[in-house]
Amino acid sequence: MEVVIKQTADEVGALAAELIGRVVESKPRAVIGLATGSSPLAIYADLARRVADGTLDFDGVRGFALDEYVGIPEEHPQSYASVIRTEVVEPLRMDPTLVRVPDGRAIDIEVACRDYEQAIADAGGIDVQILGIGANGHIGFNEPTSSFASRTRIKTLAPTTRADNARFFDSLDEVPTHCVTQGLGTIMNARRLVLVAQGAGKADAIAAAVEGPVSSMCPASVLQFHEHATVIIDEAAASKL
Ligand code: GLP
Repeated sequence: MEVVIKQTADEVGALAAELIGRVVESKPRAVIGLATGSSPLAIYADLARRVADGTLDFDGVRGFALDEYVGIPEEHPQSYASVIRTEVVEPLRMDPTLVRVPDGRAIDIEVACRDYEQAIADAGGIDVQILGIGANGHIGFNEPTSSFASRTRIKTLAPTTRADNARFFDSLDEVPTHCVTQGLGTIMNARRLVLVAQGAGKADAIAAAVEGPVSSMCPASVLQFHEHATVIIDEAAASKL
């Protein structure tokens, strides 16, 4: 695991965007794993600037989102399908038919999850997976005690995660109780992982992920086993290392 500490949150986004950009430039039909949440927004903004000035092109690039809520319609502004469309697909001018988000509305979610795993495999696997980290150490929505071997599946959200994400909804009651998320096994299959975190609120999770024992109590600690994982954080997120 490579850990890079930058002074500011913007610098975190810029370096991560540079790594993602390199993958896109080196492989015409690259496959990118997309994360939601506030942490990767600076990455997408930086990549969008390069797309706008014509120095980077996402033509033919495929995307697979990490996770999705269960129980809210796709049109809901906080569904990850909506977030991925407005924060990633549109600004990066990606072909929307090449970008998938797990289906949280399927009648048979188990079948939909298997189908999602198959689609990733059919695309040749994920070249680079963008990750944020939850304050409790979750990646995607793999909450503490998630199996390291897990694949895309339905999960119950931890109460702390619902409380953290309530800021995106009108009230805590509106935050879904379940989600569909790529598993830790799915994430670990990506050829490269880039995890970003900013702010003191992530310092404990980063310390546990980077320096703690590898434990399902901190799902992000599994990255210690990945051959090509880069953790890019600002000084505040690094303050407990
Ligand atoms: C969310 C997402 C994660 C994200 C994490 C942190 O609930 N499912 O993919 O990394 O929690 O979010 P944020 O970046 O907003 O702090």
